[in-house]
Amino acid sequence: MTDTPKIAVLISGSGSNLQSLIDNCASGYIPGRIALVISNKPDVFGLERAEKAGIPTRVIKHRDFDSREAFDQAMGDVLEETEVDLVCLAGFMRILTAGFVDRFQGRLINIHPALLPSFPGLDVQQAALDAGVRFSGCTVHFVDEGVDTGPIIAQAAVPILPDDDAKTLAGRILRQEHRTYPLAVRLFVQGRLSIEGRRVHVAEAQSDDSAAMINPPEAPG
Ligand code: GAR
Repeated sequence: MTDTPKIAVLISGSGSNLQSLIDNCASGYIPGRIALVISNKPDVFGLERAEKAGIPTRVIKHRDFDSREAFDQAMGDVLEETEVDLVCLAGFMRILTAGFVDRFQGRLINIHPALLPSFPGLDVQQAALDAGVRFSGCTVHFVDEGVDTGPIIAQAAVPILPDDDAKTLAGRILRQEHRTYPLAVRLFVQGRLSIEGRRVHVAEAQSDDSAAMINPPEAPG
């Protein structure tokens, strides 16, 4: 890795996770810098966030390419020109080809708004409600050839409350995404992550043997 690790963030929308990474790089919590933001869509708010922070942006529209392979090749070339150490998918709503995943293997991570391996794919907050689970949350994981299947770096769990709909649940999860993604990126750029089969080892991690959440909460007394 270069002296100050270079991070690229790929977005398709609002970019609130991008903002949390920008803020945590600025504060020094993440000892790296965001060198490039790529969006596959023009006019998304995430691009404004990047520009406001003085971060170079590129719009690479998937619709301008004949195939997924050609789009991913173009994006990969830009990322390599920028010599990034880590590529973060942050609300990037395109499935990547095996060729792209292979090119950035081990330095490509994603955030997903559910506790994987439950509820991969889309509309996952509604899927969690429909399944009746008591907790959902978010997952940061290395990207492999599957959809939302790669080795898990960090997760945050949130309770599902009786009056939740997909929107309220998504908001509760998103607030934890904004803590969990910076944590995972910090661990990566500190060089503390190693992949062992399906498991990610975190060097010098604190463990709390009694950490637990119960939902519904236990009745007092
Ligand atoms: C986030 O909830 C992220 O986990 C989700 O899109 C949202 C983007 O919000 N990503 C996926 O569903 C990927 N399959 P943001 O643009 O405000 O960061």
